[in-house]
Amino acid sequence: MNFRDRTVVVTGGTGALGSALVGALIGAGASCRVPYMHAEEAKRFVHRDDKRVTLVETGSLADEAAVARLYQDVPLWASIHIAGGFAAALVADTDKAALTAQLEMNLVSCFLCCRAAVNAMARAGNGGRIVNVAARPALEWRSGAGMAAYTASKAGVAALTAALAEEVAKDNILVNAVAPSIMDTPANRAAMPKADHAAWPKVEEVAATIAFLASPDNRVTRGAIVPVYGKS
Ligand SMILES: NC(=O)c1ccc[n+]([C@@H]2O[C@H](COP(=O)([O-])OP(=O)(O)OC[C@H]3O[C@@H](n4cnc5c(N)ncnc54)[C@H](OP(=O)(O)O)[C@@H]3O)[C@@H](O)[C@H]2O)c1
Repeated sequence: MNFRDRTVVVTGGTGALGSALVGALIGAGASCRVPYMHAEEAKRFVHRDDKRVTLVETGSLADEAAVARLYQDVPLWASIHIAGGFAAALVADTDKAALTAQLEMNLVSCFLCCRAAVNAMARAGNGGRIVNVAARPALEWRSGAGMAAYTASKAGVAALTAALAEEVAKDNILVNAVAPSIMDTPANRAAMPKADHAAWPKVEEVAATIAFLASPDNRVTRGAIVPVYGKS
């Protein structure tokens, strides 16, 4: 895969999956534009000193002004929307604020970044690639029992992906998503010390699938929600 002279926005790029993906993309020659919410997060970012990485302080990407700052004047090839987060709770215990927090973090941030990306790509007129990050319960709704707000927000990401892919295919913009199962991250190992960590997909493996979907080598795949489950 060759990303030379191509600029890629990676939201959530400072997180576990995001860091692995930014590493893969800069290794393939891309320039990455990576937003962050807190200065502490940017300081810990492993690729912060790479000259192909531009860190942009945006605040929450559920905010339209933040998204506008991120995409301003960017010669955009691909936009990859990893920003998101998980919360487990029974519906009986989930109030409107908790539901809204999940929708904003996972669906609204993704929607607004998709919108900014297709507008930037349409202006340049050279096509492009968008990859969203859903989650396994977005495809397997029953497995979302105990995390219904998260499941609904990620199912929204999956539906958005398929609908947008149809809208912009004529502009040579290919839109896809991946749906990871529980990934092998330090946070998940700490939360589930007795789980079978070897069965979990590694962030580098999930990043490789995303990188292909975002690359010029992906010439025809669109509207897919690709399961990335490993052996789990
Ligand atoms: N980990 C898993 O097992 C798993 C499984 C399925 C799907 N996923 C999905 O995969 C993605 C990455 O997971 P991960 O484990 O790499 O998570 P992570 O390490 O927590 O990284 C998530 C990133 O998203 C950012 N973010 C969250 N809400 C945001 C907002 N409103 N505006 C801007 N940035 C925001 C976070 O910033 P802060 O650090 O400042 O909060 C962080 O940089 C997420 O969308 C997650 O839902 C993860």
